[in-house]
Amino acid sequence: MSYNPLQSVNHQHHQIYQNEDPAFNQSTGFITPAKPAKHTSKWIKIGIPVAVLVIAGAVVGGILGSRKSSSSSSAAASSAAAASSASAKIAAGVFATATNSEYMIPIYPSTTNTALYTTPTFNSAVAGWPSDPFAPATPSVLSVRPDRPRLIAPAYKWEALPALIASDPYLASWNASIFNNASQYDALPAVVYFMDGDSGILDVARQVKQRVKAFGYVYRMTNNTHWVDRTWEELQNAAGNGTASTWAQAPADDRWNSAHFLDTAGGYLLGSSKRSLALRDVAELSAAYGIAYDWLYDLWTDDQKAAILATLIQYGLGPGVQAFTNSSVFTGWWANNIEGNWNCVCNNGLTMASLAILGDDPSGFANQLLGLTVNNAKENCAFAVSDDGTWSETNDYWYFGTTGHAEMAASLLTATGSDYDLLTVNPNFYKTGLFHMYGSGATTLFQWGDNGPNKYTSTANSLLFYANAYNQPQFALFQRDQYDAADPWSMFWYNPQISGAFWDGMPLDHAFDNSTDQWMSMRSSWTDPNALYVGIKAGTLQGHQTHNDLDVGDFVLDALGTRWAGELGDGDYLSPYYFSNDTQGSARWMYYRKMTEGQNTLLLGATNQDVTAKPTMQSGTSNTTQGSSTVFTPGSDSTAFFVTDMTSAYFNATSVKRGIRLLNGRKQVLLQDEINASTSIMWRMHTNATVSASGTSATLTIEDKTMNVSILNAPAGATFATSAAKRLSTDVTPPAPDQDNPGVTVLIISLPAGTYNLQVLFNPQWNDGTSFVTPPSVALDNWSLTSHNSS
Ligand SMILES: *[C@@H]1O[C@H](CO)[C@@H](O)[C@H](O)[C@H]1NC(C)=O
Ligand SMILES: *[C@@H]1O[C@H](CO)[C@@H](O)[C@H](O)[C@H]1NC(C)=O
Ligand SMILES: *[C@@H]1O[C@H](CO)[C@@H](O)[C@H](O)[C@H]1NC(C)=O
Ligand SMILES: *[C@@H]1O[C@H](CO)[C@@H](O)[C@H](O)[C@H]1NC(C)=O
Ligand SMILES: *[C@@H]1O[C@H](CO)[C@@H](O)[C@H](O)[C@H]1NC(C)=O
Ligand SMILES: *[C@@H]1O[C@H](CO)[C@@H](O)[C@H](O)[C@H]1NC(C)=O
Ligand SMILES: *[C@@H]1O[C@H](CO)[C@@H](O)[C@H](O)[C@H]1NC(C)=O
Ligand SMILES: *[C@@H]1O[C@H](CO)[C@@H](O)[C@H](O)[C@H]1NC(C)=O
Ligand SMILES: *[C@@H]1O[C@H](CO)[C@@H](O)[C@H](O)[C@H]1NC(C)=O
Ligand SMILES: *[C@@H]1O[C@H](CO)[C@@H](O)[C@H](O)[C@H]1NC(C)=O
Ligand SMILES: *[C@@H]1O[C@H](CO)[C@@H](O)[C@H](O)[C@H]1NC(C)=O
Ligand SMILES: *[C@@H]1O[C@H](CO)[C@@H](O)[C@H](O)[C@H]1NC(C)=O
Repeated sequence: MSYNPLQSVNHQHHQIYQNEDPAFNQSTGFITPAKPAKHTSKWIKIGIPVAVLVIAGAVVGGILGSRKSSSSSSAAASSAAAASSASAKIAAGVFATATNSEYMIPIYPSTTNTALYTTPTFNSAVAGWPSDPFAPATPSVLSVRPDRPRLIAPAYKWEALPALIASDPYLASWNASIFNNASQYDALPAVVYFMDGDSGILDVARQVKQRVKAFGYVYRMTNNTHWVDRTWEELQNAAGNGTASTWAQAPADDRWNSAHFLDTAGGYLLGSSKRSLALRDVAELSAAYGIAYDWLYDLWTDDQKAAILATLIQYGLGPGVQAFTNSSVFTGWWANNIEGNWNCVCNNGLTMASLAILGDDPSGFANQLLGLTVNNAKENCAFAVSDDGTWSETNDYWYFGTTGHAEMAASLLTATGSDYDLLTVNPNFYKTGLFHMYGSGATTLFQWGDNGPNKYTSTANSLLFYANAYNQPQFALFQRDQYDAADPWSMFWYNPQISGAFWDGMPLDHAFDNSTDQWMSMRSSWTDPNALYVGIKAGTLQGHQTHNDLDVGDFVLDALGTRWAGELGDGDYLSPYYFSNDTQGSARWMYYRKMTEGQNTLLLGATNQDVTAKPTMQSGTSNTTQGSSTVFTPGSDSTAFFVTDMTSAYFNATSVKRGIRLLNGRKQVLLQDEINASTSIMWRMHTNATVSASGTSATLTIEDKTMNVSILNAPAGATFATSAAKRLSTDVTPPAPDQDNPGVTVLIISLPAGTYNLQVLFNPQWNDGTSFVTPPSVALDNWSLTSHNSS
């Protein structure tokens, strides 16, 4: 895919791509981006709406078959269509009718609505954002827009917002939630300082940022200075000032914890005599200060501005400069070849704060940092995304990383008129939206590896920004119904011209084949909360910022609205050597939740997988797409499969292959392992279910739901057993005790050394008259889309 959205992103942030009709690619799930609009002069822009109306008219009129064909609709018909489209949008309201309370997933009505549930698109006939009057011909990071705010929400957007709220049900609902949230925070005391072993002061830093965003938003929507005073209270508090501040207990020379606790306790720097400048807590507080300074700029007195600057420079930007430049400290390790969320968060916080104070900064640090952070993020943060879109840390760290990346790109764009290629330096970055969509199961994430600290301000709302920046409207259509969508950023990142349903035309399956992760997502529906979902991975065991597990072959399984095979998540980040390294001997791999034993895969010789594993993968999909309706039943031959040769992950094995596939119109799952090993073999799966195992079958129950599991063509001696989710007695003792895994049972098949074809069939008890099939036995090398067809 060769395109460079950047020129247009820079100058016409919310008007990109409207002049060409995007083509939805049903096999990739991506919309082929239209050619970027050149930087247009004012008089050319006037001409665009007419062309846009013609396209919109064609879409609204339901002429979907051949969207590339030119339309001859008259202008009158087009405006009528535009008006009806705008009122239809208000009448439709928010698509999701509720949020599931256990998994926090949106619940869609079971209905067909061919007028609304259409191909994702930006419908220019509906009211949208005006274009940014600030469009410098030669942008520079040190040359900021003349008006305030600079960060994410420029004045022209605040002016346009009330009218857009009135005409958009999503903006209206988020606006109301943000007001409600601000009132709730208002009633609480200023954020109480808490040094948490696992995450330093990251949680409280993010709470300060969350409040500043909400208070700033409500002030600007009401002009009620109560919110300015309340913001000031939080800023003073986080500086350790005032008699009541609980932050005064933090060291006066490093109140924002520039040396993150994890560096020493969790093991990054065990044995190092140098001081580390980890800065993630610093970065989040710097961002909060930057937003407060910028959004309420005209409201602060000169004394208040000076006080904010002094604190920000001392605790934020000062350590930031040190982290980049001082070789006497362990300069921010996150700045050196660290392709992960930490790099995004640190560079972003320092960038937002620097942009906010540029021109007022007595220290010169803002100038200095802007000369460093943008290039550093382009080299590191941007490459946390593999060329298939996978966030190479984990599905969970995607939230932190993309929030930092999107905030940084958006702030640079609004403050200076360019993102300096941060959005495009990795040409595959845009695919990370699909990574999140496919990584989201029918219940929860395919949450392999570590799951990290609380999210607070780290949401999935980067998708609203990326939808527009990369012309992938399905990203925003997916995110706008999620529980975390009500966020001040969403008010400015959301393009209200979006229309359609994300699931319309969305392939059910997607294989991610970069060798770093190699994983696949398969499901029976995008909108049925009871859908079948399988996620499975192979991938290398190094190159994940030490956030992964030894988990080649690991899988999760959802059906009937619950998770049957799941992950244990992160261990205690404070456990000694938890993050020491990812070599074979690392103590990280002695912790149950990180070792192979703690994964839903094969354990050979009661020994961890080989960290140098280089598995391979193959996959197939019927390319089934969900149509317009939320009510969808795949055809009986609709299927997907994933096969990995994971021999290289094991010691003392000649061959180890694992395959998984959907059967019977995506109602059943077959997991097949072909093993030739000279060591003991153990098949393991972790489940929250109550398990009743007998011989070659097991019945799993969660509440009133049942899953039958059986071993097909069982090799001699292959029977189910269960155990608690605890280390084997033969394991080495880790440096600190494991966490308990309450309620989790391990379903196990144990076999001696030998050659086996082990087939396990999962039959969720749908209770809808589904009759189950018994699949034929087919060698993994012969698996194809039709190899298991019935009849
Ligand atoms: C935003 O929400 C608040 C609280 O519900 C409401 O008072 C206000 O009118 C809303 N703003 C707009 C522009 O509708
Ligand atoms: C924000 O408001 C929404 C809805 O009004 C609510 O569900 C959510 O819990 C609130 N979030 C916080 C952090 O208070
Ligand atoms: C707040 O003040 C601004 C600037 O004077 C004005 O444009 C805006 O309409 C005011 N908003 C409200 C809700 O009063
Ligand atoms: C906090 O107090 C210090 C020391 O008096 C002062 O330098 C700083 O500006 C104050 N910061 C804020 C935000 O009030
Ligand atoms: C570099 O860091 C060391 C150790 O914290 C400090 O003593 C020194 O003053 C710093 N150098 C500069 C130039 O800031
Ligand atoms: C995986 O993606 C990264 C980009 O993040 C790329 O550098 C690497 O070459 C890709 N690996 C393969 C095997 O394509
Ligand atoms: C147990 O359920 C929770 C969600 O309710 C899920 O996150 C976790 O992965 C499940 N654990 C297992 C082992 O299935
Ligand atoms: C990896 O970490 C372990 C402790 O978990 C340590 O003993 C070993 O020396 C480290 N290896 C390398 C190469 O740093
Ligand atoms: C699915 O789509 C892929 C990519 O376009 C294609 O290579 C493959 O042949 C398709 N498979 C089927 C069964 O249509
Ligand atoms: C492989 O098998 C040999 C012989 O049984 C044994 O000594 C060795 O520990 C095994 N290696 C691993 C990594 O399990
Ligand atoms: C299993 O591997 C061993 C050692 O490579 C080999 O001798 C044997 O033929 C293999 N067995 C089968 C059934 O492939
Ligand atoms: C599922 O398991 C239960 C309990 O063992 C059994 O009664 C039932 O017949 C099984 N259903 C199917 C379809 O195999």
